[in-house]
Amino acid sequence: MPNAVHLKTPDEIQAMRVACRLASEVLDFITPHVRVGVTTEELDRLCHAFMVEEQGTIPAPLHYCPPGHTPYPKSICTSVNHQVCHGIPGSRILKNGDSVNLDITVIKEGFHGDTSRMFCVGTPGKQARRLCDITFEALWKGIREVAPGKRLGDIGHAIQQFAEGAGFSVVREFCGHGIGRQFHEEPQVLHYGQKNTGIPLVPGMIFTIEPMINTGRRDIRQLADGWTIVTADHSLSAQWEHTLLVTETGYEVLTVSAGTPPPP
Ligand code: MF3
Ligand code: CO
Ligand code: CO
Repeated sequence: MPNAVHLKTPDEIQAMRVACRLASEVLDFITPHVRVGVTTEELDRLCHAFMVEEQGTIPAPLHYCPPGHTPYPKSICTSVNHQVCHGIPGSRILKNGDSVNLDITVIKEGFHGDTSRMFCVGTPGKQARRLCDITFEALWKGIREVAPGKRLGDIGHAIQQFAEGAGFSVVREFCGHGIGRQFHEEPQVLHYGQKNTGIPLVPGMIFTIEPMINTGRRDIRQLADGWTIVTADHSLSAQWEHTLLVTETGYEVLTVSAGTPPPP
């Protein structure tokens, strides 16, 4: 059953709550360090040390090697400005007006928690601010579709309608995903689509929603490093990510901690 969606047991759900909270706490920890003058590799180094030494978690990205890729060399993803996702931390210095996505995935007791937030560095430009806000709202438009009996296409449709209605575009090559003992499991959670299509949501499903939204065209390119995805037209891109559980009545956001931004 290679395409089967694994429904989590109560014990697995409890383990996922822990892993997901820890992932969110890494973002809380790193928030005060995301400032003008810091390099993305310093953010990686700080997060790596916090995960391994303070939390006893494993950074899932480090040496992650899906088919067609070289092993990912760092412990977090740092995607700046026109970088869409999977930006590799390095010597780049964050400057006033940059917007950066930090994407954290930890493994605790064999279970993965996956979440990302946007950070505006210094004083954000008007366009960057609006893109980050609209993308956060787009994530929540998707989350609010999550309930038993709803279908995956309802999530994608809600996100696409909202983002395109705001004048932005939705990246189609990357999607949300089931998650648990595996980093990326079935199902794929598209951030665009039609209402009343796709598989029905069932209590016990756990998956991420992680829309990537561009101010310009939706087309992307991969850099020669084999990982970093950028917008083809160099327009700004933003992303937010939560891991969700489908409950009997709706959803539970698993990637929550003290510093989680409240729903819009
Ligand atoms: N955290 C990303 C996601 O949301 C995946 C990163 S894979 C990496 O699915 F290798 F680039 F870290
Ligand atoms: Co993810
Ligand atoms: Co992620």
